[in-house]
Amino acid sequence: MIVTVASFKGGVGKTTTAIHLAAFLQGHAQTLLIDADPNQSALAWASRGELPFLVVDQWQARALPTPYGHVVIDTPARPVADDLALLAASCDLLILPTTPDILALDALALMVQHLAGLPIAPYRILLTMIPPYPSRAGAEVRQRLTTTGLPLLAGGIRRYAVFQKAALAGTAVYDVKDPKAELGWQDYVAIGEEILGG
Ligand SMILES: Nc1ncnc2c1ncn2[C@@H]1O[C@H](COP(=O)(O)OP(=O)(O)OP(=O)(O)O)[C@@H](O)[C@H]1O
Ligand SMILES: [Mg+2]
Repeated sequence: MIVTVASFKGGVGKTTTAIHLAAFLQGHAQTLLIDADPNQSALAWASRGELPFLVVDQWQARALPTPYGHVVIDTPARPVADDLALLAASCDLLILPTTPDILALDALALMVQHLAGLPIAPYRILLTMIPPYPSRAGAEVRQRLTTTGLPLLAGGIRRYAVFQKAALAGTAVYDVKDPKAELGWQDYVAIGEEILGG
């Protein structure tokens, strides 16, 4: 399966999602992460430590002989229209991460509008960096997106500092010594299972 992670807005958790979905999928089949962001955040993440899957840029990916069971593609924020059309059409599933705040939702609405006119793969919205209780931001945004009929994943990713530690260490979150490591990982496991379950 080819899963592409994209958003109009920067900093909504695309790279963190791509890394952890790839870590989950690697548990099911050989998985490749293609870093299609010129900022090369996923490549930098991989270079700092150890990940259980290969991360390459889009040029290296073309030269790879090994067939991969799953491919995850991380993309830059604000893709130009042509790139968006191409990346949305050339995958099996498009994941659109968004944080539960108004600016991210505005950008998401714009992206959904753009996608509406394109021949694209199915897409699912993923709520990321959901703040802890007593904030109601996650629940409120979930309700709002559900009432507008947008395809939202049932699971969501909570906001844990351990995700930043994982990026620094160059590992998946489950390899970080932190009380929240397992909780963070389980959030992505639930998303992975939802995706594989169709
Ligand atoms: N669930 C989370 N909890 C806490 N912090 C997070 C979480 N997910 C991501 N972050 C942090 O938020 C910041 C942005 O995340 P990330 O780089 O994954 O977003 P991005 O959409 O790929 O950004 P860009 O558009 O710049 O590529 C990073 O510092 C990352 O460590
Ligand atoms: Mg990124």
